[in-house]
Amino acid sequence: MNVGIITVSDRAAAGEYEDHGGPALGSEATRRGWTVVADALVPDDKARIQEAIHAFSAQGCGLILTTGGTGIAQRDVTPEAVREIMRVEIPGFGELMRMRSVELTPNAVLSRGIAAVVGNSLVITLPGKPQGAVECLGFVEGAIAHAVKLCAGEPTSC
Ligand code: MTE
Repeated sequence: MNVGIITVSDRAAAGEYEDHGGPALGSEATRRGWTVVADALVPDDKARIQEAIHAFSAQGCGLILTTGGTGIAQRDVTPEAVREIMRVEIPGFGELMRMRSVELTPNAVLSRGIAAVVGNSLVITLPGKPQGAVECLGFVEGAIAHAVKLCAGEPTSC
């Protein structure tokens, strides 16, 4: 499975701190036998997020993971950016991520992370904290392979 990873962060994009979320997700993807074919670091800007998602989808990424911008800070716009370009939202991903994450930290309820179909790709918006992003990916990974096939229009068993 080809994966694209997008870190969404004003400060990391400005070079104010190093991006740890993108590399953490890259390691997780590789560990699962997926191939990371593209990565990007963009500011909390809807157009820039959408541009990266469209580019990765056109490049053949069946799965696109974003990290950051899912919360309630003034500049957090990742879910809105995805909603503007999606075909359908898949609410169960966000529900599961929050339900499992609040068992680890009460602050997890602040994440508005979603999953959606954009083009032929599955897009999952994960929290910005590297550990949180990795945890949330783990909570939903069971449905990813099947969802990616459906997004690509491949025949499946259901
Ligand atoms: N989910 C998990 N599993 N683990 C975490 O540490 N951090 C939370 C939450 N989700 C966290 C988590 C915090 S502190 C915030 S503010 C929100 O995700 C939103 O983060 P974001 O705006 O960086 O995307």
